[in-house]
Amino acid sequence: MKVITLLNEKGGVGKTTLATHIAAGLAVKGHRVILVDSDPQGHATVVLGLPKEPGIYNLLVREAPFKETMRIIPPEQYGIPGEQVTGQLCIVPSNIETRNIANSISDAFAVSDRLSELESFFDFVIFDTSPTPSLLHGSIYLATDYIIYPTKCEYLSFDGLVESIKHREAAQAHRDKWNLGPIEVMGIVPTMYRNQTIEHSENLKELRAQFGSLVWPPIHQRTIWAEAVTMRQPVFAIAPQTKAAVEALALVDRVQGAAVHV
Ligand SMILES: Nc1ncnc2c1ncn2[C@@H]1O[C@H](COP(=O)(O)OP(=O)(O)OP(=O)(O)O)[C@@H](O)[C@H]1O
Ligand SMILES: [Mg+2]
Repeated sequence: MKVITLLNEKGGVGKTTLATHIAAGLAVKGHRVILVDSDPQGHATVVLGLPKEPGIYNLLVREAPFKETMRIIPPEQYGIPGEQVTGQLCIVPSNIETRNIANSISDAFAVSDRLSELESFFDFVIFDTSPTPSLLHGSIYLATDYIIYPTKCEYLSFDGLVESIKHREAAQAHRDKWNLGPIEVMGIVPTMYRNQTIEHSENLKELRAQFGSLVWPPIHQRTIWAEAVTMRQPVFAIAPQTKAAVEALALVDRVQGAAVHV
């Protein structure tokens, strides 16, 4: 079981969009996936068509059994029309109560301990995170194998990225004490990219100069992404032939490959 966390301490850069598409895409491609919504906004929960609920709060604070907190997403919600979904997608939902988790748990290993129960049931755990760092992020860092950083090619998103990298390094020091291995940065994904703007193309060059091959192909800004949210489905479920869907599925392939080879 591989744990992949989507993180950037800048809001609105595409964390939830990528977390939900990676989770759904991996399930489409035959994997057993659980998406954990760890943001009090509960947006990953909502974009997959479910009501906000205190799933992660109940799991970590009330120590509820997984089977009571997780929800199965029906394949019709996220599959590619005409193709059979061979994997499975579950979600641990979130709501505003998630804000109270950090003050209610004292054990930094709370997330790792609960995830260890899932080892033989899932291939991937995908975390969507809040833009605001908290002690819950600290507990997620201890449970994470790989991080994906979505970022817009804009100054404040880069600032969020730099802050996120600093906090990962601090968390790594904590992991080292417990002989946990390094968190691998799987990739930095430029999101909502507009290549006709000098601002975006110059910033993408700068990102590549700094991080080299860690920078993955950009996901372009397109209206279909907002339409998919309105329909509570991934882009490849509502319009599989579009460029957005092709980019989303290429991202999923890349995640799948990186999780195997790193
Ligand atoms: N490639 C894209 N083209 C156009 N709109 C996009 C694209 N990707 C994401 N969006 C839209 O941008 C908005 C912000 O995306 P998202 O909610 O995924 O960001 P986030 O990082 O999770 O935000 P937060 O920090 O608030 O959790 C959403 O309305 C989403 O539909
Ligand atoms: Mg979000």
